[in-house]
Amino acid sequence: MRPVSVLQTNSPLLEVRDLAVSFGGVQAVADLSFSAAAGSVTGLIGPNGAGKSTALGAVAGSVRATRGTVEFAGIDVTTLSSYRRARLGIGRTFQMNGEFGKLTVLENLLVAAPGQVGETVRNIFSARRTWRRQEQELVAEARDLLERFGISDHEDAYAAELSGGQRRLMELARALMAHPRLLLLDEPMAGVSPLMRDRLGEHLLEVAASGIGIVLVEHELRFVENVCENVYVLAQGSVIGEGNMSALREQSAVLDAYLAG
Ligand SMILES: Nc1ncnc2c1ncn2[C@@H]1O[C@H](COP(=O)(O)OP(=O)(O)O)[C@@H](O)[C@H]1O
Ligand SMILES: [Mg+2]
Repeated sequence: MRPVSVLQTNSPLLEVRDLAVSFGGVQAVADLSFSAAAGSVTGLIGPNGAGKSTALGAVAGSVRATRGTVEFAGIDVTTLSSYRRARLGIGRTFQMNGEFGKLTVLENLLVAAPGQVGETVRNIFSARRTWRRQEQELVAEARDLLERFGISDHEDAYAAELSGGQRRLMELARALMAHPRLLLLDEPMAGVSPLMRDRLGEHLLEVAASGIGIVLVEHELRFVENVCENVYVLAQGSVIGEGNMSALREQSAVLDAYLAG
């Protein structure tokens, strides 16, 4: 089933208009417009420094727009904190390292679940009962995700022990624990073996097929071609081409800036 507001309006899940972001004197994103639909994977590609990660950050709220708007599910979120945006359903994956490597795979998923009871419940004993029940439900949900992504056998392994590909799957499962409607992925193929790439790609397509919109930044163009319905090519902070990968290969501006060589 698709998210309710997508049925109510014809607007895309994500609509970025005339976005600009600068860091001091550096114009990282200039006049960038793109959109992403629920239920499909949208790609952002382009040379290093083109502004792709900054664009994702501006959607998630970790980076401030200096101009332009970010609209999510019909709501203008441009000035909202990343926390509020996450609550509305904008999710992103984080490359887990450091402390998270010392948690097990299952624990990594459990700590990602939002909206824990406790703070709002006055009676500590009823809170505790609710907590236990909620915890059991979360464990079941986490196990379902691990099963779905084929990493159940690793539930008790430390995250640091996983291979690159398994780690990406864990990060994806972790992000899904928050029930996002939009998922932002920055270079999900980095550090993933060729064998695992196809598997990860198939899982991303399954996630999209469940109604979630995915926006991904990726250098691995064969992968982009396999999973992205629509692709935007960025150069120097703005879009220089849009379409599917085969259409983009025909566009000379795109070839000159990025795809050639
Ligand atoms: N936090 C920052 N402070 C200063 N400059 C930044 C910051 N983040 C990115 N930039 C600059 O903005 C430009 C775009 O960077 P980025 O969005 O990371 O590009 P991409 O992800 O396409 O490689 C680059 O010139 C980069 O050096
Ligand atoms: Mg980047």
